[in-house]
Amino acid sequence: MRFSKRMDNLAPYLFAEAERKIAEKRAAGVDVISLGIGDPDLPTPQYIVDEMRRQVADPANDRYPSNWGCAEYAEAAASFYKRRFGADVDPKREFMALLGAKEGLAHICFSMLDPGDLALVPDPGYPVYAGASILAGADVRYLPLRPENGFLPDLDAVSEEDARRAKVLFIGYPNNPTGAVVEDDFFTRVVAFAKKHDIAVVHDNAYSELTYDGYVAPSFLATPGAKDVGVEFFSFSKPFNMTGWRTGFAVGNHEMLEHLWRLKTNMDSGMFDALQKTSAFILNGSWDFVHEMCAVYARRRDLLADALTSVGMKVPRIKGTIYMWIPVPDGYTSGSFCDHVLEQAAVVITPGRGYGPAGEGFVRLSLTTPDDRIAEAVDRIERSLKL
Ligand code: MLT
Repeated sequence: MRFSKRMDNLAPYLFAEAERKIAEKRAAGVDVISLGIGDPDLPTPQYIVDEMRRQVADPANDRYPSNWGCAEYAEAAASFYKRRFGADVDPKREFMALLGAKEGLAHICFSMLDPGDLALVPDPGYPVYAGASILAGADVRYLPLRPENGFLPDLDAVSEEDARRAKVLFIGYPNNPTGAVVEDDFFTRVVAFAKKHDIAVVHDNAYSELTYDGYVAPSFLATPGAKDVGVEFFSFSKPFNMTGWRTGFAVGNHEMLEHLWRLKTNMDSGMFDALQKTSAFILNGSWDFVHEMCAVYARRRDLLADALTSVGMKVPRIKGTIYMWIPVPDGYTSGSFCDHVLEQAAVVITPGRGYGPAGEGFVRLSLTTPDDRIAEAVDRIERSLKL
């Protein structure tokens, strides 16, 4: 058989590899604890499941949906964006339903980038930004996120040549994988940079609702001028424990959404109306469940931070996301530390190198595992470090 050339340089997705390793260990009878993928362990709340049941039973939802999304979902998203972020969204022109944020992030590379174009990608960054840009034939320029800059990219360090060539800039705060949050006028600087160089901005807003210690995450879209240059992707996966449901949406620049819509009409047939209406119901409802999840993750963060600090690791206390980004102990690379922890402690953590070259020297730990399993994992890691 002959396959497409574009597959030649495409490695399996970061977590597909981890999934394979976990399956192998479990099949061999090993009790593996995963602090790898950010896949919430707690169930989707019952009030959402009940609404979905109601919507699935309604024959009005059985037929092809619109690729833009139904009016109910668009209006709920626009009113959520106004209420929560103070951002204006026109539900008729500036909204599109997505089969999860990942799908939108990957597809927008194909509506924005041609072979030979340049994408500016944070490093470390969610692997889809670079992966899908490369699949679209574009070149990737990594923008290093360094602890000393609060894990924000230094836009002044982008060369004139790269700024001229680049068509898209990816950003995402609260940030996966570093857990960093935006504290200053960063989004304003992004809009100015994008306007100056005619670069489209894609802001991944998957974690805005999972924040701690009183921090409230802003939306890129609420920044003056943001809709002239960019779009923002919101996801229900993490705040509502709905990773399997594949629901999210894009809001922002109409032209960018229209191109994405045209592409997607050729690739998928939109999102099940029952799921769209359930998503609208979630947005219009109470946020109590999300506040409960924030309390759960803050508790797990503290548990993990206290325990790892006591064994000599440097653990920053994140204000957002569900990930701890931790420097590896002396003598290890990110890969060798993950291998050590997997082999000696049967704990899965994610090597920072998987998020880009600047991720070397770090590992990512996800808080999506029950408290007692996190405690057990830390115990095992501690013992493995003494070996
Ligand atoms: C993560 O663990 O970073 C992601 O949420 C999983 C994914 O979407 O690939």
